Amino acid sequence: MTQSNCRVAGQGAYLPERVLTNADISAFVDTSDEWIRARTGISERRIADDSQNTSDLGYEAAKIALADAGLDADDIDLIVVATTTPDLVFPATAALIQDRLGMRHGAAFDVQAVCSGFIYALAVADGLLKGGVFNRALVIGAETMSRILDWEDRSTCVLFGDGAGAWILEKTDDNAAGLLGYDLRCEGRFTPLLKTTGGVSSTRTSGYLRMEGPAVFKHAVTKISNSMARLLEREEIEIDEIDWFVPHQANQRILEGVADKLKISREKVVSTVARHGNTSAASVPLAFHQAVLDGRIQRGHLCLLEALGGGLTWGSALVRF
Ligand code: UT7
Repeated sequence: MTQSNCRVAGQGAYLPERVLTNADISAFVDTSDEWIRARTGISERRIADDSQNTSDLGYEAAKIALADAGLDADDIDLIVVATTTPDLVFPATAALIQDRLGMRHGAAFDVQAVCSGFIYALAVADGLLKGGVFNRALVIGAETMSRILDWEDRSTCVLFGDGAGAWILEKTDDNAAGLLGYDLRCEGRFTPLLKTTGGVSSTRTSGYLRMEGPAVFKHAVTKISNSMARLLEREEIEIDEIDWFVPHQANQRILEGVADKLKISREKVVSTVARHGNTSAASVPLAFHQAVLDGRIQRGHLCLLEALGGGLTWGSALVRF
């Protein structure tokens, strides 16, 4: 039987215009630029305008990805959106983006795996395309994390930002290209470490993000490293074969800790945390887009992606771009 893979036909990303610097945050919360940069690597993040919802950010990223692939919405028959900050409880943000794109065909739904959402969404779309039901998928990670932050909680409000990234996946008979494999995990017992204080069925509100930062930090370095090692072993790929490491942008110290653990050279680490902060499900495609734009990631390069977030969920993916 011929094996097929899903290649990345195009990619794009979008950041809202408003920049919120560490100095801006220091004006209303007891923190400092020095602390934030030393403990996280973050200097600034983007914040969606009041008129912008998650679907607006996702739509902008989708348009760029479609243009990059030389396709239009008619060529897509599946939309999977990874988000923790949907515009509405329902319909799915994917349905709203489908409408904005003028699509009247295909399927659209959301995936909720918090910061690991884009890795999960890639795997879901990959499975559906390989199953033969769909031809081309638009996979989006889009977030307005600013809407679920407690702006009086200095331990979390300095960390997150808004943005969106999008990939177009399509089947290819070249089994050495595209999404080569992935590793997905969840341990719900760690919910208390990273969660919101509310939800539709519990409090009828979205609540605010709360995190036990140091505990999540420790889990992140260990769990992400183990996931990547498992994936590389399964796919029989040596770490030296990786051209670019594109991690979830939660904290510069985490992504360097993971790179060091796997002996990935620092020059291969794509980091946008300084400018984007943690954009949850949008962070990996946003970082990927930046590295494509500045010429680092090129066609044919082998990229290792990873993320960890609420759940705890975590995972990694190997992509030959
Ligand atoms: O995307 C989801 C996954 N998320 C992550 O992976 C994030 C994981 N965690 C982290 O990145 C880090 O734990 C944080 C950046 C959240 C915190 O850094 P930390 O080095 O672990 O600091 P800490 O929480 O241990 O706090 C150290 C001190 C505390 O003061 P005391 O108790 O030592 O007096 C905090 O109250 O820093 C204080 N602190 C702050 N000070 C100034 C906490 N937040 C701030 C702040 N500004 N924003």
